Amino acid sequence: MRTIEWRDGVVTMVDQRKLPRQFEVIECRDYDAVAAAIKDMTIRGAPAIGAAAAFGLALAARASRAATRDELLRDLDTAERLLRATRPTAVNLAWALDRVMSKARALDLPASDLREQVTAEAQKIADEDVAMNRAIARHGAALINDGDTVLTHCNAGPLATVDVGTALGVIIEAHRQGKEIHVFVDETRPRLQGARLTAWELTQAGVPMTLIADNAAGYFMRAGKVQRVIVGADRVTANGDVANKIGTYKVAVVAHENGVPFYSAMPTSTIDLSLPNGDAIPIEERDAREVTHIDGVCIAPEGVRVSNPAFDVTPHKYIAALITDRGVVYPPFKDSLLRIMRAEA
Ligand code: MRU
Repeated sequence: MRTIEWRDGVVTMVDQRKLPRQFEVIECRDYDAVAAAIKDMTIRGAPAIGAAAAFGLALAARASRAATRDELLRDLDTAERLLRATRPTAVNLAWALDRVMSKARALDLPASDLREQVTAEAQKIADEDVAMNRAIARHGAALINDGDTVLTHCNAGPLATVDVGTALGVIIEAHRQGKEIHVFVDETRPRLQGARLTAWELTQAGVPMTLIADNAAGYFMRAGKVQRVIVGADRVTANGDVANKIGTYKVAVVAHENGVPFYSAMPTSTIDLSLPNGDAIPIEERDAREVTHIDGVCIAPEGVRVSNPAFDVTPHKYIAALITDRGVVYPPFKDSLLRIMRAEA
């Protein structure tokens, strides 16, 4: 099943906070519930929250009592503001909201027809995400050799997208093609997306893997035990800098130091050519409890000062290639990104 789906006016999503102990699907019946699910990370991962935001607008359109097109657009604006404020770093969220809103604004239709069009556009975003991820998997699998050990950080699997995944989609496709590969999975503190979600997804897919503490990644790379690193992305800027889960930067620097190619995989909806470089990306700061507590148990002194940035930026000089749905692109990324973004999908 898909991570997120529209079913007869209800948005269903896998509750990612409960995995791997419990597989539970929740229902969101209004856009406030979708916004809350994005914020508390019931659903997470850049493409998945993009689709969620789009479906949030579809719920808002459906619930609106507006009799006219203008009234409906006003109700959509209100929902859009709430959804946009949930998480700032992954550009897919803003991208999906912009896409649905500009579609709605461009159509001169009665309110009832506009409602249908908003839902259709959200569904299209979800379907296109699956298609883009399949293309990423195809392009990226060619970069993995038989016998490789691949290291990944955080979760960029089916759960982080509508389906298939980005970085993990590549890995799973290489495995499906019969390549003998092994995956080192960084646990990914503080929220442990690697240990909880990536390890679960790779186990489901039957891909051989080893879970490691984040701090062990450098040890294995220096020992020559890692042939490639593949991660996802939350936003890629015009020069090829990549924002991804906190800790990615450290992995990229160590990979570079040890001559291990570092790749980032993403659909074109994650590429933001409006920002010149990674310094311009807003970095989400999350609750201190994510650092001080594990499974509800406080592991730090009471009242300790905490900083908890959820993402960091990997400068493009550490990146060997970006794997997109429109093909693999190489440095200089300023040129190659512009070329693929101008090209037809
Ligand atoms: O805070 P999260 O779990 O939403 O962060 C997710 C990541 O950083 C992923 O690596 C990224 O979104 C790529 S998802 C295909």
